[in-house]
Amino acid sequence: MCGIAGYIGHKIADQVLIVALERLKYRGYDSAGMAVVRDGEIHLRKAAGKLKNLSERIEAQPVVGRCGIAHTRWATHGAPTETNCHPHLSTDGRIAVVHNGIIENHEVLRRELKDQGCIFASETDTEVIPHLISTLYDGDPVAAVRAAIARLDGQFAFAVVFADQADRIVAARKGSPLLVGRGKKEMLLASDVPALLPHAQEVMFLEDGHIADFNADEVRICSFDGAAVAPRFKPIEISADAVSKGDHDSFMSKEISEQPEVLLRLIESRLRAGRLVEPDLGLDLAEVNHIVFLACGTSWHAALLGKRFLEHLARVHVEVDISSEYRYRNPIASGGTLVVAISQSGETADTLAGLRLARAKFIPVVGLVNVVTSTIARESNGVMPLMAGPEIGVASTKAYTAQIMALYLFALQVARAKGLLSQPEEARAIVSARAIVEHAARTLAECEDPVAEAADIFTSADATVFLGRGGEHPTALEGALKLKEIAYVHAIGYPAGEFKHGPIALVTRQLPVICIVPRDAMYEKMLSNLQEVRARSGRIITVGQAGDRSLADLSDHVFPVRMAPDDLLQPILSILPLQRYAYHVARRRDCDVDQPRNLAKSVTVE
Ligand code: F6R
Repeated sequence: MCGIAGYIGHKIADQVLIVALERLKYRGYDSAGMAVVRDGEIHLRKAAGKLKNLSERIEAQPVVGRCGIAHTRWATHGAPTETNCHPHLSTDGRIAVVHNGIIENHEVLRRELKDQGCIFASETDTEVIPHLISTLYDGDPVAAVRAAIARLDGQFAFAVVFADQADRIVAARKGSPLLVGRGKKEMLLASDVPALLPHAQEVMFLEDGHIADFNADEVRICSFDGAAVAPRFKPIEISADAVSKGDHDSFMSKEISEQPEVLLRLIESRLRAGRLVEPDLGLDLAEVNHIVFLACGTSWHAALLGKRFLEHLARVHVEVDISSEYRYRNPIASGGTLVVAISQSGETADTLAGLRLARAKFIPVVGLVNVVTSTIARESNGVMPLMAGPEIGVASTKAYTAQIMALYLFALQVARAKGLLSQPEEARAIVSARAIVEHAARTLAECEDPVAEAADIFTSADATVFLGRGGEHPTALEGALKLKEIAYVHAIGYPAGEFKHGPIALVTRQLPVICIVPRDAMYEKMLSNLQEVRARSGRIITVGQAGDRSLADLSDHVFPVRMAPDDLLQPILSILPLQRYAYHVARRRDCDVDQPRNLAKSVTVE
């Protein structure tokens, strides 16, 4: 959580930093601030609330400087007030720090530093860092930062500027991401690549345990114990267009619309000469007999589908674990076990902790990630990239459908390695996967009007139930999560057959019940479940095949979806109208769909 940015160069720092924060606000957006070094002083600008508040403040009181650091916050310690917002200063105002992560021993340090005369202004854990550095600073910024780090417990990425070092930023990383970007006579710092654009052409990912010390021309890297490390930059491959909204009113809307092309890119990346390529995961898939999926939130819903694919296609025993639960268990490590860590961002703290626990038990880990430069990707034995491109809307949409497709293709690869997939079966599966691309495009086009119409009618419904069976149970969970997180509507997803065991008591004339009813093996069972809701006067919306009379007769509204040639892949199509439904309800309720309250895109805290 939280985004960090820094700039030194020939441009006006505050303008570069505001754009960088704009690109990082998916990491947190409850307050923002900036510190610019000029004329031997640190000039601070902060504002609680959305980033535009900070922009307005800077417009009213510009600080023209060439070196600065900035921060967009997702509060952990202390409310999202202006005082708690970063950067934080040392008592004499000569050192400013922005930080992402948690300093676990901040209370002990705070007491100690107060005894030494430091005056604390905020309730944050971060504020100990500038005070600590100032007590250790004698003109050598890196030495002071190294000495301070020796006292810090927890995980962090932070950046420091010093009033008497007009052209210098020092940054350190232990557990939270931090990147240095190099442009032409300018250097940037950020928590993520998009924030380096368009100024930087090259990027260097700071390693855990390393410190970067840079000016506009040069960067020096050393380890926490002071050993010099050669900086390794590589070209930035994403363009500034990939991180803009294009013609859409929100990133979420753009990302929903991108799904057909994302799926196509992903499928093509896994094929060579029309056949599935052997994934380069550093292990023999034929020997895997037990898979544990670790994931949170939307990624966990994809994992539930991964279990179905692997059990059905490859006959492998699969467990699906919520990462924050797995990490505190004592999982059994037996030969043939593989952990698959599923994470769009690749930075989710709980999933990363689960991965580390598995590796400590010598269980091989494969990361299924969208951000291939992420910590989960780097710490996994093998990586399966999602190829979805940057996902900036906080609610995951295109990464979810890419995860489902990637898991389907992975299950086919495991099945083939085990001799359970003949060449004609493989060819048929690839045809089915490819067909989803066109079906997704058509579904998005065809469901739009009915979805918008239902959103008009149910905008003020204060609760919604989603029901599905089999592969559509995860769709029900995901549909409910989308509506909760961006439209703030209380929603539950339930296995339709289980609904009568209690939750059916919720049904009233006012309650919208969204039932996912594709023409699969569960179709007849779902119709019975629909009848149960209808008999109690619930308002029924169905996600199903266009022109299905039985469904239309039982429904108040139908969201039409195309039918996948392989039932296993249907959830990729069924979720599309539900993503659009959440979007439309949220817009009608005046919610910010890209930045829902209380959330952040990368959950890098426990
Ligand atoms: C919901 C959403 C979250 C994430 C979860 C895990 O729309 O985006 O539930 O899925 O925080 O994030 P990753 O996949 O980055 O590990």
